[in-house]
Amino acid sequence: MLGRLFRRKSNHPARPTRWELSDELLRWSGDDAWTLRDAVEGTLILGATGSGKTSGSGATIARSYLSSGFGGLVLTAKSDERALWESYCRETNRLGDLVVVGPDAECRFNFLDHELNRTGSGAGLTENIVTLFSNVMEIRERNAGSGSGREDGDFWKQGALKCMRNAVDLVSLATGKVSVPDLVNVVLSAPLTPEQIREKLWQERSYCFHCLVEALDKSKTPRQEHDFGVVCDYYILEWPNLSERTRSVIQATFMGWADLLVRGLLRELFCTDTTITPEAVESGKIILIDLPVKEFGEVGQFAQVLFKYCFQRSIERRKVAESPRPAFLWADEAQNFVTSYDMMFQTTCRAARVATVLLSQNYSNFTAGLGGNAKAQAETDSLLANLNTRIFHANGDPVTNHWASSLIGKSRQFMMNGNSRCDDDDDQWLAALGLDWMCRGAGASAGFNEVLEHEVQPREFTRLCTGGPANGWFVDGIVFQNGRMFAGSGRTWLKTAFRQKA
Ligand SMILES: Nc1ncnc2c1ncn2[C@@H]1O[C@H](COP(=O)(O)OP(=O)(O)O)[C@@H](O)[C@H]1O
Ligand SMILES: [Mg+2]
Repeated sequence: MLGRLFRRKSNHPARPTRWELSDELLRWSGDDAWTLRDAVEGTLILGATGSGKTSGSGATIARSYLSSGFGGLVLTAKSDERALWESYCRETNRLGDLVVVGPDAECRFNFLDHELNRTGSGAGLTENIVTLFSNVMEIRERNAGSGSGREDGDFWKQGALKCMRNAVDLVSLATGKVSVPDLVNVVLSAPLTPEQIREKLWQERSYCFHCLVEALDKSKTPRQEHDFGVVCDYYILEWPNLSERTRSVIQATFMGWADLLVRGLLRELFCTDTTITPEAVESGKIILIDLPVKEFGEVGQFAQVLFKYCFQRSIERRKVAESPRPAFLWADEAQNFVTSYDMMFQTTCRAARVATVLLSQNYSNFTAGLGGNAKAQAETDSLLANLNTRIFHANGDPVTNHWASSLIGKSRQFMMNGNSRCDDDDDQWLAALGLDWMCRGAGASAGFNEVLEHEVQPREFTRLCTGGPANGWFVDGIVFQNGRMFAGSGRTWLKTAFRQKA
């Protein structure tokens, strides 16, 4: 049942320019190929720290994607991941395609401009931007320990989203573009009382008022005319009549979101000009966000989730017939980057030929990463169910081991049983020594029981080799693919070994 992992070819082949779903990427055993079709159904790699996720299955899959010409987005949690991907790219002749988005801010992506250029002001723009913020801000809310299911948290969030919706509409109607500093200026200069709207001094100083006048003068489509009416109602009737407390909490919630983007590194990376867009992946670029969470904390996490979301939305829209190059989304220590949207993305990304690979220690990391409540549990189940190839490395986490064991399922197994009686007093000492089968007057019986048992018991996952010199540089993994029978094992799962050193 132990397969050795077979690379497709010893040297990296010439990169294909056409990709078929039946293209073979690697082999789990001599008879078990893993194809592009399998890859775009998603991959999950679980194992304890030091079990060989990164250097075993992770490295094998990454190299196979790169040598097959995939483009991709790499999110980073640890500072050594950039060097690791540089080495993968060097080995596979892909260094020229590697684009590093890092703290030097040489590569920049103005995400609002990108959205505007894509949709044009008007149709869909406002809702897209609001949804984008709402998804990316999930991370901040979770980190702050709020929002996750709290009723009042949800109320303020809805208020802040409405505030943003109106600000986006107003700024885009008035100026034809949208930027985070402009949104902030509108929100901070909106009228505080109905009387203020008529004050000359306020009118002169308020950016919000200035935009209202600009937008009024612009020629508008009937839809824009309608939207402008809604915006005017909000700023002239609704906002100044909110109670002081309500208004300040909504404003604070909004500012909590925007704050990160109006200063420092994130402003430079995401709110200035654009030198790279997520679409570059479609032409074979490998975009690595070198803002590892361990080093850059929330700023790194936020930047990567923002880029990931924009990548997901852009790649979902592509026309595969015209742009068929497979793309991968790679997240080691994936619990840092998961959001509710991943679950939706994963249900449809197969059609867009995106091979998602998530690596993490255990199942509970995902539920904790998604907020730790019942909704998070459901989202974890949905997300992981849509990663069709699961690779399990050595793990001591009982939740993960039971989960993996029950995924693989049960089968009928024969259990041998036997019992014996030593009736004769003289034979009692034999029984005491466990030699009851030697009893003269014994009544013994033996047989087989057919029982339904887990094919792979949870304890099996604690016994897998974790690589390093002690294991001859081999890392064990149990591969499970829903609906697949492995030729190498004759079962729905296969124990295989990944070589750490090429
Ligand atoms: N270059 C190396 N030299 C020595 N040991 C290594 C090397 N790379 C990995 N290992 C060992 O292999 C094991 C698996 O490492 P790694 O793939 O980083 O695990 P994980 O990603 O699951 O945390 C660890 O015990 C690690 O110490
Ligand atoms: Mg690792």
